[in-house]
Amino acid sequence: MFETDLTRRLNIRYPIIQAPMAGGPATTKLIAEVSNAGGLGSLGAAYLTPEILRSTIQEIRQLTEQPFGVNLFVPVETTESQATIEKMTTCLNKYRIELGIKENPPIENVSESFEEQVQVLLEEKVPVFSFTFGIPSKDVIQAMKKQGTIVIGTATIVEEAKQLELAGVDAIVAQGSEAGGHRGTFLGNTTDSLIGTMALVPQIVDQVSIPVIASGGIMDGRGLVASLALGASAVQMGTAFLACIESGAHNVYKKTILSANEDSTVVTRAYSGRAARGIQTKFTKEIDQYPGVIPVFPIQNAMTRDIRKAAAKANNPEYMSLWAGQGLRLATDHSAGTIIQQTMYQSHILLEKMIKVSD
Ligand SMILES: Cc1cc2nc3c(=O)[nH]c(=O)nc-3n(C[C@H](O)[C@H](O)[C@H](O)COP(=O)(O)O)c2cc1C
Repeated sequence: MFETDLTRRLNIRYPIIQAPMAGGPATTKLIAEVSNAGGLGSLGAAYLTPEILRSTIQEIRQLTEQPFGVNLFVPVETTESQATIEKMTTCLNKYRIELGIKENPPIENVSESFEEQVQVLLEEKVPVFSFTFGIPSKDVIQAMKKQGTIVIGTATIVEEAKQLELAGVDAIVAQGSEAGGHRGTFLGNTTDSLIGTMALVPQIVDQVSIPVIASGGIMDGRGLVASLALGASAVQMGTAFLACIESGAHNVYKKTILSANEDSTVVTRAYSGRAARGIQTKFTKEIDQYPGVIPVFPIQNAMTRDIRKAAAKANNPEYMSLWAGQGLRLATDHSAGTIIQQTMYQSHILLEKMIKVSD
């Protein structure tokens, strides 16, 4: 009943993709559990070194024989003035003092090499390659496709979806404004590109001829059925899996997710320099009021890393990046397999009910 053009293409049973979540929540166990349960598990690999990326892919392969995806951030050329960096360093020192860590640390590991990461994906012949923040070169997309890897891009407005289709991707994630984590916006400005999933999906579906994956605020069978009704071929769910048993999210992060509400999140540049939706914290409140210029991504991301790490160690959520979408009240601490099964069960019941109503 829930077979679509995309489930056939991806060779998965259910039209559910577990969102790639760079930074820890998407453990190999979570990815494998989702793939084994009939969805598509995805590794958020943006922050992984090529070596760790390779060993993580191999680990996933030991845990599942089913298809899975690997996701990267398309790099954007960025520079930041020394003055902006120095001012932000001074501002951040206040948090370092409070957390008892060294002031003025050197800025390290700003970003991994996208080219090297891509090389690993090519060598490992991953089943699915997804990306966000832009469009990789045609060479990369073609090399992936040539070896049988299915390529999926991310759009937040129709024009981005059209450009992704032109670039040759196989499917598009339509990321609505409800979505947790970083905004994938790469053409317009992030404020204007905050289109809700309900409005975005059908408009993209009408303008492209490849499968569209609805993403943002989808937490259960109701969201899945609604997305398919809008013309999507699958859903990509992130927040729904954040507090699940296999999620690698910090315990304090999981607890905050389970007690947060639909109005607990904000779109902020505070932690990383790039717009992302997360639970409001003391840090987002204060840095969003920062009178100077917040350094661009990934510089701000590297600059706040020591603070986020120290906060996590101290179990202090106020300085941790708690990425999450607006569907928060529907998050559970079940296992990932149960979340998939319940989503599918609820979808079946819902459709049966709807069909009865129309009799
Ligand atoms: C903790 C977290 C990390 C994320 N990391 C990534 C990522 O690395 N790559 C990516 O394409 N999307 C990432 N996203 C966005 C998801 O792909 C997806 O758009 C979002 O989770 C959908 O909204 P939902 O959280 O309401 O389900 C992340 C989302 C969350 C919540």
